[in-house]
Amino acid sequence: MTHISTDIDQALALLRQGDLVAIPTETVYGLAADASQPDAVAKIFAMKGRPSDHPIIVHIAGIEQLSQWARDIPEVAYQLAAAFWPGSLTLILPRQTGVSDAVTGGQDTVGLRAPAHPLTHELLTRFGGGLAAPSANRFGHVSPTLASHVAAEFGHALPLILDGGPCRIGVESTIVGLTTDEPTLLRPGGIPAEAIEAVLGCKLVHHRRSDTAKIRVSGLLDSHYAPHTPLTIGALPLLLAEAIQRTAAGKRVALLHRSPTVSYPAGVYGQTMPEDAESYARILYATLREFDRQGFDLLLLETPPAGPAWLAIEDRLQRAATHRLG
Ligand code: TXA
Ligand code: MG
Repeated sequence: MTHISTDIDQALALLRQGDLVAIPTETVYGLAADASQPDAVAKIFAMKGRPSDHPIIVHIAGIEQLSQWARDIPEVAYQLAAAFWPGSLTLILPRQTGVSDAVTGGQDTVGLRAPAHPLTHELLTRFGGGLAAPSANRFGHVSPTLASHVAAEFGHALPLILDGGPCRIGVESTIVGLTTDEPTLLRPGGIPAEAIEAVLGCKLVHHRRSDTAKIRVSGLLDSHYAPHTPLTIGALPLLLAEAIQRTAAGKRVALLHRSPTVSYPAGVYGQTMPEDAESYARILYATLREFDRQGFDLLLLETPPAGPAWLAIEDRLQRAATHRLG
């Protein structure tokens, strides 16, 4: 039976014996295993239903452990780690010899991150090694930002969920590739790209979608981060028209909007989303899960504004949406 607690001793004991533990990070909850035990890492893939060639981020306590997991580490990696760790930045680097294929998906690179959440930081410091941990959701589904979300994903199959409360950031880490001469933004996330560029003193190369087949970053597949309820994103006037039409056809429709609406169409349930990107990111996944739970037939969500602060949100919504209007 799944146990939800803040017991770090129990988490350490389970991880050392090769069991899985869900851990809080400031971005989203992770499903963790000892990265040095391939059999333990294999349990992650089984539980998530994730294809086994997808690499998993290794979580470490800090910059001191970088060289245990990566080799040929460029100076920029140390600069970025010094600036943003512990925090929501994942660095892709050449893997150190001995890092298992179970973690890297057989690639010659490894993803490394030192999360800032105090409970998990303490866990990692006491653990000493690395914890392989993807987001603690079934493959393709919305990432969890509360312990109860993880419990809803995996039921009783998971021995322990370490409860660190609601995730402060709410979207996954920013992933930067450092395996070529050009630092590359592989996934926008918790740390804004401009903050990283300010430290680098140059622009990040933006990953192009046509490269996805080569790089095999699961976050770059379409239909990811998705609620079970069909999700349409678009401009508010088009969504209002759609809401009227679908409600008339007997569907239960929820409308999530940022701009003020004069009034909701009869029978439509409406919710106002936050104005600023940080607050929006913090509640986005929990909101999608809550609407799933309430059994709507259709979610209509107003397209967020353009602009650098909204990059991660725009990226996730684009992958979560089944339709786009306008
Ligand atoms: O905020 C986060 O990053 C959360 C928390 C738990 O740390 N983790 C997370 O993990 O989002 P996951 O597995 O859901 O997404 C991590 C992404 C995947 O798309 C994976 O393919 C990519 O990181 N990744 C991991 N190692 C990689 C590598 N060596 N090369 C390229 N991509 C890698
Ligand atoms: Mg994920």
